[in-house]
Amino acid sequence: MVNIMQKIYAVCEKALQTGDLSKEEILLMLNCPDENSDIIFQTADIIRKKEVGDEVHLRGLIEFSNFCRKNCEYCGIRGKNKTIERYRLTEEQIVDTAVKSEKLGYRTVVMQSGEDPYFTASRIAEIVKVTKEKTDLAVTLSVGEFSYDDYKIMKDSGADRYLLRFETSSEELYKALHPDSDFRERLQCLQDLRALGYQVGSGFMVGLPGETMEILADNLLLLQKLDVDMAGIGPFIPNEDTSLAGENGGTLINALKAVAITRMLLRNAHIPATTAMGTLDPKGREMALQSGANVVMPNVTPQEYREMYLLYPNKICLTDDPAHCRGCITGKIHGIGRTVSKDHGHTLKHR
Ligand code: SAM
Ligand code: SF4
Ligand code: FES
Repeated sequence: MVNIMQKIYAVCEKALQTGDLSKEEILLMLNCPDENSDIIFQTADIIRKKEVGDEVHLRGLIEFSNFCRKNCEYCGIRGKNKTIERYRLTEEQIVDTAVKSEKLGYRTVVMQSGEDPYFTASRIAEIVKVTKEKTDLAVTLSVGEFSYDDYKIMKDSGADRYLLRFETSSEELYKALHPDSDFRERLQCLQDLRALGYQVGSGFMVGLPGETMEILADNLLLLQKLDVDMAGIGPFIPNEDTSLAGENGGTLINALKAVAITRMLLRNAHIPATTAMGTLDPKGREMALQSGANVVMPNVTPQEYREMYLLYPNKICLTDDPAHCRGCITGKIHGIGRTVSKDHGHTLKHR
């Protein structure tokens, strides 16, 4: 044990200087006994402060449709789930939500949905265009897989960023969990987005059934290889309405380790403290912010729709309205001695 901890201290010492860590070094940290993991979090926090500072960027998340043509095994809004009520905001409601978010002080909105056939690339492009005309917001899209040409239509309308998690780096596990998606096509989408000039966010869930520490280490290395502008990592939380209902979910500590190691590997990337972490522990997002994260994505979806975008149970903020969440999160950020950024929080990567 002493020996293992000495090795982990040495890796942390090295990480302060460079993000060039080997898979073995990553595995050492992932396998660090939970009760001794603070050194990993503290090291990531030092690197976070040096690389991206104390400011936390807020992105207002608009969940604008829970219709989805896909059936990812883990997801509560998968098309075949007949137990949930479906909703779709109108184009006007989406723009209106963005305008209100700007009034609440957000500088970025993230427009997210299932893969809803109603929302074609042209319709999404029109929403982005009008939002850009009416506000000075940065617009991030998170609406799934499209062709290069469709991504181009959305980019040309003014979209700045795109979030598309690869979910797992294991092609085999990806196949088992995605009956209607292909791992290589997902990676191609990420390449297309980058080629089109989007700031690209990707990431994965921690603790998917069948995930090993090896796969988790490979997930981290894939993020580094993709050199993403933003890395979104959250624990998998089993949903009762899916085939993975009885499975174990990911743990907060493993998700925190993944966030911390991501900070070590990707240095100045933006890393959110995700809603799923806040769901596992009331202090989950603060813990992530103190383990390498520098972004939070509070929900700005009108309150009446929130309960229908239930990817997993016990999701936080379901009964709160956007103004309440804005105040709540600011309090949490100040409570840990950090500040809320006033700028757009664009990528810090120089390409
Ligand atoms: N449909 C788009 C897509 O799949 O990229 C965007 C919306 S999707 C609901 C956003 C993310 O939710 C997914 O990338 C996935 O990682 C996460 N998610 C879905 N089900 C989850 C679960 N049960 N636990 C934790 N995260 C989940
Ligand atoms: Fe649809 Fe995205 Fe859920 Fe998959 S993860 S079922 S694409 S909303
Ligand atoms: Fe929504 Fe705290 S962020 S209630």
